[in-house]
Amino acid sequence: MKKLSGNTQVHSRAYSVCDRPYNHQNWNVCLSHYYPNSHGSGKLNLEEVLQISFCVMVFVPKVYLFGGGLETSHSFDWLTRLCFLFCKFRREIMRVKVFGAGSIGNHLANASRSLGWRVDLCDVDEAALARTKNQIYPGRYGNWDESIHLMKNKDAPKGGYDLIFIGTPPDSHIALALEAVKEKPKAVLVEKPFCTPDLTGAQELYDLARSLNVAIFTGYDHVVGKASEKFSELVTQAAFGPVETLDVEFREFWGGIFAAHPWLSGPSVTYLGFWKRGGGACSEHSHATNLWQHFAHAAGAGRVVEVTANMEFVSDGKLDYDKLCMLTLRTENGLLGRVVQDVVTAAPRKWARLQGQNGYVEWQCAYRPGTDAVFEGNGAGQTSEFLVTKTRPDDFIQELRHLEDSIKSDPWSSPLSITRGLDTMLVVAAAHKSVAEKRTIRIDYSQGYTPAALKLV
Ligand SMILES: NC(=O)c1ccc[n+]([C@@H]2O[C@H](COP(=O)([O-])OP(=O)(O)OC[C@H]3O[C@@H](n4cnc5c(N)ncnc54)[C@H](O)[C@@H]3O)[C@@H](O)[C@H]2O)c1
Repeated sequence: MKKLSGNTQVHSRAYSVCDRPYNHQNWNVCLSHYYPNSHGSGKLNLEEVLQISFCVMVFVPKVYLFGGGLETSHSFDWLTRLCFLFCKFRREIMRVKVFGAGSIGNHLANASRSLGWRVDLCDVDEAALARTKNQIYPGRYGNWDESIHLMKNKDAPKGGYDLIFIGTPPDSHIALALEAVKEKPKAVLVEKPFCTPDLTGAQELYDLARSLNVAIFTGYDHVVGKASEKFSELVTQAAFGPVETLDVEFREFWGGIFAAHPWLSGPSVTYLGFWKRGGGACSEHSHATNLWQHFAHAAGAGRVVEVTANMEFVSDGKLDYDKLCMLTLRTENGLLGRVVQDVVTAAPRKWARLQGQNGYVEWQCAYRPGTDAVFEGNGAGQTSEFLVTKTRPDDFIQELRHLEDSIKSDPWSSPLSITRGLDTMLVVAAAHKSVAEKRTIRIDYSQGYTPAALKLV
């Protein structure tokens, strides 16, 4: 925050945050402007209740008991400083545009509304917009939220958004993200997998975002979950000892995905059945690869530099995807470990284990329904457990809170930054090349996010 040197400066800054001229008569208007029945649920969250209570406690006595004092510049300055405090600790109302009114688009729209943000939800398909309003949103979250504006892409405003989310199939991500960055929002969120395994447009997008200073995030939301944060905290403790190896598995029969998409008849009618479009186990379940990279960073092992892969494909003329994907990864600091992703395992298993010289840490997603878990142990067995109870919508609320906080600090160092999303795409691309060439692939980061970065060992 700028040092307050005079009332004029203070005026304009407060105005830009509150949209209204700053004076005590307008506080009531200002509050009702920011705290309308803004969640769709009709409830204010705890943070907002505390903010309003703070405002009432501080401003009401000041205005009504000592109202005359307000005319003096001293009191005015005092009140202005409190106004700044209020604005600083209040979460901003973001204006959001979401591309893709499918499964993830609905999650992101709902999470945005839970934070009181304004949402325009766009799709190229009229039927998808109708399905959102009549089926997906009310089915998942109880009822349709009338404040969400549904529109075709061509009718969506350009410019004026704080955040733009790309929740469409992977082969459309880069083109939409390039256009979104040109609108100069505060940030763009691109869903996983970030792009197609041929890496088309990846470096171009990275360069454009850097040059326009628009932050880009990726949708690997597991890394900012509370259980992952606990896992990372435990493995950095001295008692854990040097790291021996790391395993991550996301093994899930994709019947679950199709159950969440009853309007899809199977993998052949979507990108999921085509690895070149970003489908198949290697791309679709790349949460595991990304989590492996995230935990390797937490353990100080650095970036992945070698990939050896094996995959089992379904290629029958109508479909062309990997149903099983097994990766052996080595990092620049020598950590050797394994990632397994598949679309055949039922019941699913989403699990990670980091073995140190003095013990292990395990992470398990959906250990019990609605509960993630982190276990700590040693050669004698498990020594502690840490449970996180949450719902699926909570995952996305947590992700968006992370985005909001990162934008205010350093978005480029977030574990959800574009760098992490594209680092994962390099591993995905290397994995497919490894299978095609039956060789280990070395990643040369000096070549950028391009196929030239993938070298045969
Ligand atoms: N982070 C997560 O946990 C998570 C969860 C689900 C999906 N995803 C990812 O989100 C992406 C979308 O998956 P989904 O399950 O929501 O798919 P979906 O099929 O349910 O929805 C995609 C929607 O995008 C629309 N669309 C296609 N091209 C478009 C364009 N150019 N502009 C606007 N809309 C367009 C389609 O009409 C469809 O309605 C995928 O990359 C997927 O991997 C991530």
